Amino acid sequence: MNYRHAFHAGNFADVFKHLCLVALLRGLSRKDSPWAYLDTHAGAGMYDLSSVPAQKTGEYRQGIGRLWQAPGPFPAALADYLAVLRSLVGGKDAPHHYPGSPLIAAAVARPQDRVIACELNPIEYAALAEYPSTVMTVHNSDGYQGLKAFLPPVERRGLALIDPPYEDATELTRLPRELLAAHRRFATGCYALWYPLKDEGPLAGLKRSLQDSGLRRLLLAELRLSALVQGGILHGCGLLVINPPWGFVEQLQETLPVLTKILAPGSGSSRVEWLVPE
Ligand SMILES: C[S@@+](CC[C@H](N)C(=O)[O-])C[C@H]1O[C@@H](n2cnc3c(N)ncnc32)[C@H](O)[C@@H]1O
Repeated sequence: MNYRHAFHAGNFADVFKHLCLVALLRGLSRKDSPWAYLDTHAGAGMYDLSSVPAQKTGEYRQGIGRLWQAPGPFPAALADYLAVLRSLVGGKDAPHHYPGSPLIAAAVARPQDRVIACELNPIEYAALAEYPSTVMTVHNSDGYQGLKAFLPPVERRGLALIDPPYEDATELTRLPRELLAAHRRFATGCYALWYPLKDEGPLAGLKRSLQDSGLRRLLLAELRLSALVQGGILHGCGLLVINPPWGFVEQLQETLPVLTKILAPGSGSSRVEWLVPE
C-alpha cells in the first residue's frame, strides 16, 4: 500500500469526483428520510496544498486551482460543490487545503444522515479520525469488507463511493465482483465507482462485466483532458454510477461541459451516457 492521496488531492480527478459526489448526495437529500454514505477508500480527510507531496506534483493547480480562479456564473451543481468546499476551507483567493470525500460528504450530510468511512492505511486513517463529526464514523478497515459489513444500511437509502488506488492489477477484476455482491444485498442503493483513464483496455473489461451482469440503471460519466491515449499517463477519469438519483444525469449534462472547458480548454471532452438504461 504505497498510494498516498496527498500527491493528487485537488487535481482534476478529485474535482470531477467530488462535484459528482455532492450532486449525488444532494439528490438523496431531496427526501427528508435519512441516508447513509459509505466511503470504502476514504483517504486522510484534509490535504495541505503547501505540503511537500502536493507541491512536488503540483497537480492541484490544474484542478481546483483552475476552477477556483475561473469566473462564474457556474451551473448550479458546480456552484454548490464550490460552496461546500468554501464551507470547509474558507473563501480565500486560492485554496490552501483541499478536503477529501468523507469530509465533503459530512459537510453535505443533514443531522439525520450518516457517513461511514473505511481507510486501511493506519496513517491516513489516524489523520481522518482527527476530524470530529457528529455524523461520521471512521474505521481502520478494508473497504471491501466495509461493503459487506455496512450494506444494506438501516436507513435503506444511501450511496457507496468506491474509490480505490488501482495500485494492484487485480483490483479491476475484483471490483465488479465486489460491487455486484454489494448490489445483491442492497439493490436499491446508489453506487459510484471512480476509475482513472490511463490504459483503457482493462477498463473496457470492467465496463463490459457490469453491462452484462443484468444490472439496470448503470450510468457512465467521463471527463478527458485530452483525446490522446498516452500509454500509462492519466488523461481523464470516469465514474460508473448505479441507480443515480433523479435529476443527476441532467445536472451532469449541464455541468461537465462547463467544467471541462475550465480544466482543459480546447483539448478536453466529457461524456454522460447510460451503459444500461432504466
Ligand atoms: C484514491 S484514495 C481515496 C481518496 C478519497 N476517496 C477522496 O476522494 O478524497 C484511496 C485510499 O484508499 C486507501 N486504501 C487502499 N486500499 C484500501 C482498502 N482495501 N480498503 C480501504 N482503504 C484502502 C489508500 O490508503 C488511500 O488512502
